[in-house]
Amino acid sequence: MKGVPVPRARAAPRRHIWIPVVLIFVAITILWVYLYPPQDYTYPVRDWYPVRDWFPAEPARELTDEETAARVVFRQILSTPPFPSRNPKIAFMFLTPGKLPFEKLWELFFKGHEGRYTIYVHASREKPEHVSPVFFGRDIHSDKVGWGMISMVDAERRLLAKALEDTDNQQFVLLSDSCVPLHNFDYVYDFLMGSRHSFLDCFDDPGPHGVFRYSKHMLPEVREAEFRKGSQWFSVKRQHAMVVVADSLYYTKFRHFCKPGMEEGRNCYADEHYLPTLFHMMDPAGIANWSVTYVDWSEGKWHPRSFRAKDVTYELLKNMTSVDISYHVTSDEKKELLQRPCLWNGLKRPCYLFARKFYPETLNNLMNLFSNYTIF
Ligand SMILES: *[C@@H]1O[C@H](CO)[C@@H](O)[C@H](O)[C@H]1NC(C)=O
Ligand SMILES: *[C@@H]1O[C@H](CO)[C@@H](O)[C@H](O)[C@H]1NC(C)=O
Ligand SMILES: *[C@@H]1O[C@H](CO)[C@@H](O)[C@H](O)[C@H]1NC(C)=O
Repeated sequence: MKGVPVPRARAAPRRHIWIPVVLIFVAITILWVYLYPPQDYTYPVRDWYPVRDWFPAEPARELTDEETAARVVFRQILSTPPFPSRNPKIAFMFLTPGKLPFEKLWELFFKGHEGRYTIYVHASREKPEHVSPVFFGRDIHSDKVGWGMISMVDAERRLLAKALEDTDNQQFVLLSDSCVPLHNFDYVYDFLMGSRHSFLDCFDDPGPHGVFRYSKHMLPEVREAEFRKGSQWFSVKRQHAMVVVADSLYYTKFRHFCKPGMEEGRNCYADEHYLPTLFHMMDPAGIANWSVTYVDWSEGKWHPRSFRAKDVTYELLKNMTSVDISYHVTSDEKKELLQRPCLWNGLKRPCYLFARKFYPETLNNLMNLFSNYTIF
């Protein structure tokens, strides 16, 4: 049959038409993906410590030998996942002059969660008489701490180094003798362990309690534009704890040039500036920029509000746990209010896990209310 090739001859041009159509379609798809890249769906996150291709921004000058060395060490630490632990724990690090008035409350908090936490106590004035068994034998080697002095940072580093010795510790929370828990243990554990960020307070204050404390002696490593401020009460993940104990270059700058009674009437307090500045420079995207410890500065005094027994009600505690915006006020004449939602892995959530400052007299009220206000 000679008629057979005819349909073949007719079909051939049709195939040729389809090839450019497919090519155009593919080209449009590629262009589309290039112009509108797929969104980064970041939730839920099960990978607690994603390895990032991380590198601190290079300043536009030649680095000193010490800076090059410090950066390469930090890069290695931050891009290396911690030892896999079959029993991940949170280190609760108490920084106190002496007695811990809320031991019994913390005991209630820790009860039933043995093996998921480790307690460390740095007592700078006198060795505390512990009243709760969970605190027995948890004192670490301590030294004197002067308010606003570098010795405060030294105590924090001492606690971190001690807590890092236990490779099961994955999160490191700094607490004071006047801090209390706002949630139950499971809530705190999931919140901290599940976070991609460390909770370190950090903001840019152009006023007298911020940038005015900066000294040019910190150059070239620390520029004024990078000087930051934040509350000292942090919760950091293991790599960040490692960076703090590994750093000697930036620590030394603050040790020498950030202290009370400097030239031109400047008072610099290392515990409010060293860590926020270090992490702002070395891993800005790795910190949440707010602290998980609530504190009330609304009275506008030199010290935050301290709560009395009569203040401690269910309503007060519920108010603290419902705040989901972090506030900072600049100390210049503008008194600018900076507010940002508290984002946990990109989701807006209540900010606080702990609160300060409470007088010891509030213990009974807190114990009575604890199982009520920490239900979720
Ligand atoms: C924290 O602030 C810095 C800017 O100082 C920003 O680059 C970073 O993304 C912030 N962190 C988070 C988790 O939003
Ligand atoms: C709780 O917050 C509400 C709304 O901000 C306020 O009116 C109330 O006085 C607060 N209560 C306590 C006990 O702080
Ligand atoms: C907790 O205490 C508040 C105030 O006393 C009360 O209204 C509430 O019902 C209590 N909640 C529970 C779950 O016991």
